[in-house]
Amino acid sequence: MTIDRCYCYDVPFAHLRDVARDTGAQTVEALQDAVCFGHNCKLCHPYVRRMLRTGTVQFNHIIEEADEPASDVPKS
Ligand code: FES
Repeated sequence: MTIDRCYCYDVPFAHLRDVARDTGAQTVEALQDAVCFGHNCKLCHPYVRRMLRTGTVQFNHIIEEADEPASDVPKS
């Protein structure tokens, strides 16, 4: 199974990447100011953070909060 969007709102990560490029949004919250997504189960949030960090918009594995934490504080 390929994970490529916020399924609750049917918003593809590719669209969010385009919006991030256009607006300079660097966080889930900044993207949510421009696009309605990610307000329900929030399982898409770590995927969106990975997309913001790497540009990847399709995933074939599970990414959880612990894998891509919300804080931008470097892991020690
Ligand atoms: S998949 Fe994005 S809020 Fe549920």
